[in-house]
Amino acid sequence: MPSRRPLIAGNWKMNGSESFVRAFCGAIARAQIPAGVSVLLLPPAGYLAQAVQVLGDCGVECGAQNVHAAPSGAYTGELAAEMVKDLGGRWLMVGHSERREYCAESDELVAEKFQAALRAGLHPILCVGETLAQRQDGNAERVVGAQVHAVADLVGASAFASATLAYEPVWAIGTGQTATPDEAQAMHAFVRAQLAQIAPDQAPVMRILYGGSMNADNARGLLAQPDIDGGLVGGASLEVAQFLEIVRMGADLVSG
Ligand code: 13P
Repeated sequence: MPSRRPLIAGNWKMNGSESFVRAFCGAIARAQIPAGVSVLLLPPAGYLAQAVQVLGDCGVECGAQNVHAAPSGAYTGELAAEMVKDLGGRWLMVGHSERREYCAESDELVAEKFQAALRAGLHPILCVGETLAQRQDGNAERVVGAQVHAVADLVGASAFASATLAYEPVWAIGTGQTATPDEAQAMHAFVRAQLAQIAPDQAPVMRILYGGSMNADNARGLLAQPDIDGGLVGGASLEVAQFLEIVRMGADLVSG
């Protein structure tokens, strides 16, 4: 069985404040993060440097939720991957369904942002997932497969192998309606099979996170699945006690 170190990531989305970051990251820095699990926070970009500074050398890393694909230039209001690095971020999430939906991000644009992350030396997290209608129409695998392959086609197999994937069924995000462990495992196994076509040597060691209403009540069952290597937690990542509980479950239950 390949060894995949579990990763629990908190996507704060557009939530937080200076005082929230100070309290939350201070509590994380003081907490005993169990050995064997990696923890990542994705605060709003404006708070990235503060989060990095408050976390200090506790081992918890930070990243951004989105960037522009270009390295710099006349793109008013945008943020470049190089700036994320400059602010102390190590990770970059691309392709979140809220950006695909509200900002009309195509598979191709997501691939360009993924490439920007690699260019800046950031670890990319590629989010994939189908809508309820796509699932009901029997198209979930086709949609998710296309999202994965669009990125691999642009960046190539070797670069893709350094990525983390996150399966986030759109119908489970912010709805309280989690995929069952079996439903999630089935799609994670499908994603890993796609990865095996793209990067056969790397697919067994690539992490695939689950996201979509993960919380302290349901995380244990999800994380116990063989192809679920961690969580991308939204709402429940805003409560530090609950987030740390999920982190501990990751350390307890996800093993290679
Ligand atoms: P929720 O956990 O709030 O459903 O959000 C999931 C998510 O979108 C994480 O990126």
